[in-house]
Amino acid sequence: MKISVKKQTLETINSGFLIVNLFAGETKPGGGTGAVDKKLKGLISKNIKQLKFNGSKSGDFFIFDNPKNHTKKIMVISLGKQADLDFETIRQVAATSILEAKKHKVKTVATILHGAGIGNLDAKKCAQTMAEGFLLNNYSFNKYQKNQTANKNTIKEIIICQKNEEKISDIKKGINEGIIFAKGQNFARDLVNEPPEILYPKTLTEIAKQIAKDSSFIDIKIYTKKEIIQMNMGAFLAVDQGSAKDPYFIHLTYKPKEKPVKKIALVGKSITFDSGGLSLKPSDSMVTMKMDMAGGATILGIFSTLNILKPNMEIHGILPACENMPSGEAIKVDDIVKAGNGKTIEVVNTDAEGRMALADALVYAEKLKPDEIIDLATLTGAVIIALGNDIAALMTDNDKLNKKLTTASKLSGEKIWPLPLEKTYQEHIKSEVADIKNIGKKGAAGTISAGLFLKEFIKNTPWAHLDIAGPAWNETKHPLNQQIGGSGFGVRLLLEYILQK
Ligand code: BES
Ligand code: MG
Ligand code: ZN
Repeated sequence: MKISVKKQTLETINSGFLIVNLFAGETKPGGGTGAVDKKLKGLISKNIKQLKFNGSKSGDFFIFDNPKNHTKKIMVISLGKQADLDFETIRQVAATSILEAKKHKVKTVATILHGAGIGNLDAKKCAQTMAEGFLLNNYSFNKYQKNQTANKNTIKEIIICQKNEEKISDIKKGINEGIIFAKGQNFARDLVNEPPEILYPKTLTEIAKQIAKDSSFIDIKIYTKKEIIQMNMGAFLAVDQGSAKDPYFIHLTYKPKEKPVKKIALVGKSITFDSGGLSLKPSDSMVTMKMDMAGGATILGIFSTLNILKPNMEIHGILPACENMPSGEAIKVDDIVKAGNGKTIEVVNTDAEGRMALADALVYAEKLKPDEIIDLATLTGAVIIALGNDIAALMTDNDKLNKKLTTASKLSGEKIWPLPLEKTYQEHIKSEVADIKNIGKKGAAGTISAGLFLKEFIKNTPWAHLDIAGPAWNETKHPLNQQIGGSGFGVRLLLEYILQK
């Protein structure tokens, strides 16, 4: 599916499907839509009146035949209330419009640039978010199906029409950035969706290796089990202990050509299957646990874009990859293990494994002396109780990181919300026999106690923890997501954070 910009007016394009927009309550649309309305002798405004179309919600639309050729359709879609317009609305509207266009089995779709006219938003960013909307909507994971019926696409090209010469180059740049962001996210989705007998630690290393091979700016170091033992990563090794498959510790490094303005480390939970271990999950809860490497998948999605985006920043990607399985050799509850920084952990529940694997990864990350560390992890079921399926929890004591990630969240449309690293809850992870234990107080702030556990493995580097257990997995279909499964959450969020000045 090609996305391009043309210096042409919409109605002159030979396309089976034209998309225009309006704001809630508009009866005589202006801007690009107004121009088309004029060419159609007021047919759009006539339809608005006849249908009593209000467009009070963004994404509301109507479709009618082009009177000059009845096989051709015109779609009028609402951007919602003008005062509420933001980039996420544009992303969603773009996705909804393409979802409808697909139903009409057209080859070419032409649209105006949403939001940059009367909406007055930055043209480049509008184009970026539109491209994201198109490509995220179009994602499907059906390689294991004989009849690939879901989310079928006939659209070969989407053309964004723009009369204004000055905006064209910005729109082009925006489209390109949107394509890269969406590709990175869809790449992460693919990794999460692969079944656990296909994607396990060893095969994950092969994917990471390929990313490094494809870029002269990216290097990779993969540690084997023997080397992981030598690095004293007792907590990570404890998680792997019951698995028949070998663990790997993956470290990707991106270095820009010029002197980097700063150095960051991204750490991703990469449990390729979480059965719970001896603290076995009930069958129903175990389904979807191939997603427990979503943090790592997001980091690989990000790295897959860096060769093109070329940010002026040194970026480390760290993935402690293993399975969490029960067996005669598995780590037991009551066991005490020692992490890379010498701290001992009492294992009270082997299903609280993510924090143990991450503990060693955070210690490793801090040794690289980064300016900032961010970890992403499908860490707790409790975060879904707290924030639901659409919002990740952000935990940090660093105001700067908090602000930057909040801004990135607004731009990317990937929702995050802060939870406190409440000091008094430290009590919850106190152990009688070790330095800390791996679970908190039953039924009380499970997401925060997991965050506090991780904090034990950071000395003084600015650090933020994102618990993505909710949004990493798409439970339902919506315009940006036609595939139940991995969402690739965090790719756009962290790319916006990386590209911030
Ligand atoms: N992988 C899970 C968390 C999870 C749950 C992710 C649901 C996505 C959806 C994690 O390893 C886990 O099992 N956490 C336990 C911790 C508990 C034993 C303290 C949980 O949340 O139940
Ligand atoms: Mg390389
Ligand atoms: Zn678990």
